Amino acid sequence: MRILLLAHAFNSLTQRLWAELQARGHTLSIEFDIADAVTEEAVALFEPDLVLAPYLRRAIPEPVWGHVRCLVVHPGIVGDRGPSALDWALQEGEARWGVTVLQAEAEMDAGPVWASVEFPLRAARKSSVYRNEVSAAALHAVLLAIERIEGGSFIPTRPEHVPGARGRLRLLMRQADRAIDWTRDGTEAILRRIRAADGFPGVADRLFGEACHLYDAWPEARLRGAPGAVIARRETALLRATVDGAVWIGHVKRAGSIKLPAVLSFPEQSAALPEAPLAGWWRAAEPTWQDIAYEEQAAVGVLHFEFYNGAMSTAQCERLRNALLWARARPVRVLVLAGGQDFWSNGIHLNAIEAESLQGGSAADASWRNIQAIDDLALELITTESQLTVAALAGNAGAGGCFLARAADYVWAREAVLLNPHYRNMGNLYGSEYWTYLLPKRLGAEGAQAVMRNRQPLTARAALASGFIDECIAGDAATFAAEVARRAAALAADPAFAQRLADKRAARAADEAAKPLAAYRAEELAQMRRNFYGFDPSYHVARHHFVHKSPASWTPRHLARHRELAGRTA
Ligand code: COA
Repeated sequence: MRILLLAHAFNSLTQRLWAELQARGHTLSIEFDIADAVTEEAVALFEPDLVLAPYLRRAIPEPVWGHVRCLVVHPGIVGDRGPSALDWALQEGEARWGVTVLQAEAEMDAGPVWASVEFPLRAARKSSVYRNEVSAAALHAVLLAIERIEGGSFIPTRPEHVPGARGRLRLLMRQADRAIDWTRDGTEAILRRIRAADGFPGVADRLFGEACHLYDAWPEARLRGAPGAVIARRETALLRATVDGAVWIGHVKRAGSIKLPAVLSFPEQSAALPEAPLAGWWRAAEPTWQDIAYEEQAAVGVLHFEFYNGAMSTAQCERLRNALLWARARPVRVLVLAGGQDFWSNGIHLNAIEAESLQGGSAADASWRNIQAIDDLALELITTESQLTVAALAGNAGAGGCFLARAADYVWAREAVLLNPHYRNMGNLYGSEYWTYLLPKRLGAEGAQAVMRNRQPLTARAALASGFIDECIAGDAATFAAEVARRAAALAADPAFAQRLADKRAARAADEAAKPLAAYRAEELAQMRRNFYGFDPSYHVARHHFVHKSPASWTPRHLARHRELAGRTA
C-alpha cells in the first residue's frame, strides 16, 4: 500500500510505524500536520491508498478524509473519545486500557472502528506507557486494520455498536483535575497524578513559593517530614513529604523556563537542603530515588542508569563513569549496562546545556564539557579489559546514546526498541563518542556513511540485520531482563570465556596500533568544536527549537518523500 503518515511530529510511535510498515513492504511518506492546505497538497502529490494518523492534535480536514480513507490511532479503548485518553485512564487507575484505530470523520474519535487492541495498564509514567504498551498495541491494531482493508470484506463498526464497548467521551484534563493537595493526598495518589501528567503537561504546583510543573516522581520508603515540605535533595532530585510518606521529584519546569532536573531548576533553594546520599552504587533495598544502581548475580554485574528521557549531563556521565570503574573492580566476568526502562541513552543533555545559556553561561562551553564527559565514559567502556561488556537496550537509544551502547562488546536490544544512530537532525552535529571508530568496524565505511546520511530510525530487527547490534530479543521488559540475565550468565560460564577476553584484548591492541583511540577522538572533537564554537549556528538553533519544543513549520525532506518525488519530476 501507499501510506501517507500524517502526524503532529515524528514521535516514537510514528517512527515505529514508519519503520515497521516499510519493513513489511509498504511505500511510505510523511507529512507533519502543519496546515490543512499542506496536508491536502501532500495527499495530491503522494496519492496514497491510505492516510494513517498515529499522533494528531487536531482533526483531519474534510477534503482529505472525504477523498481517501484516513485511519486515526486513538490511545484509548473502543468508545473512548477526547484528547486526554491516557491521562484519565492512569489517573483513575484503570486496570486495562487499549488502542483503537478508527476511520476519520467530521467528529473526532467517533468514526467506525477498524481494529482495537487492549493491554493491562501499568502504574507508570504516561510517557512510559505510551512508548511501551501503547506503541505495541498501536502497531498490532494498525497491522490488523491494514490486513482487514486488504482483505476487502471487513465492515468497520461504529464504536457505539461494538459489543462490550465501555469507553466514553472525556474532556481535556485540566490542571484543576490534576491538582495535588499536599496536606491531604497520600503518596500513592500523588504518584498517580504526576505519572498521569508525565512527560507533558506535568502537574501545576508550587515549590519554594514559586509556580512550576512537576514530573518524574518516585516513592521514598524511609524519610519523613511535614506534609508538603521539601525535606532533602539527592544528586538532581528533591524530596517532598506527604501525609503518609514522601515522594522524590526528579524534574521540574519553572514558569517561563524549560523542564530540568529539579535541583537545576532551584539551585539556590536546593543548596540549603540536607543531602540524603545513598551508600555506594548497590541498588537500595527499599523504594527510593536512585538513578544509578548496581546489582550482581554470580559472575554478572548489572549497572542500571535510569536517566530521565535518556539525557546524560556532564555530571551524570562522570558519575556513571565512576560507577563503571567501581563495577570493573568487582569479581565479575560480564558487565551488563542496562540503561533505563524507557531509554538506554539519548546522548548529551540538551536541556541542561540550554539551561546554562538561559542562566547567562555559554551553551558552547556546556556542550563541550558534556561531549568530553560522555567520551570519557565511552572510552572506559571500549577499554574495559577484565570483563566482557554488554549494552542491554530495554528502551530506545538515539544519537550519541547509540554509539555509547556500541562501545560495549555486545549490544542486545529488545525487539520493540528503536534506534536513531545518527546526529545530523540536531543541526548537522558531527557527533563524537568514538563513532568514527565504532561504526565502520560494524558496517564498513560506506555502511557507516549511509546510516549517518539517511537519518532513519531503525527497528531492533533492522539494526540486527545491518550488523549494528548483536541480538534482538522478543518480549516485554520483564521477559527481556530475564533473557539478558540468562544470556549474560551463559557468557560468563562459557568455557571459551578466557579465549574471548584474550581475543578482545588482542583486537583492541591491534586497533590501537593501527590508529589510536585518541586520534579518532581528536578528529571528531575538531568537528564538534566547529559545531559548538564555529560560524554556523545550526546546532545551537536546532537545540533551542528541540528544547523549547517549537512546532515544526515544515516536514524534513528525507521524510516527506512525496515532495522529493515531486521535485524530481518538476
Ligand atoms: N537531551 C535532553 N532531552 C532529551 C534528549 C537529550 N539528548 N533526547 C530526548 N530528550 C527529551 C525530549 O525533549 C522529550 O522531552 P519531554 O519529556 O519534555 O517530552 C523526551 O526526551 C522524549 O523525546 P522525544 O523526542 O519526544 O522522543 P522520541 O522517542 O519521539 O524521539 C529521539 C527520540 C532520540 C529521536 C529524539 O528525542 C532526539 O532527537 N533526541 C536528541 C538526540 C540528540 O541529538 N542528542 C545530542 C547529540 S549526542
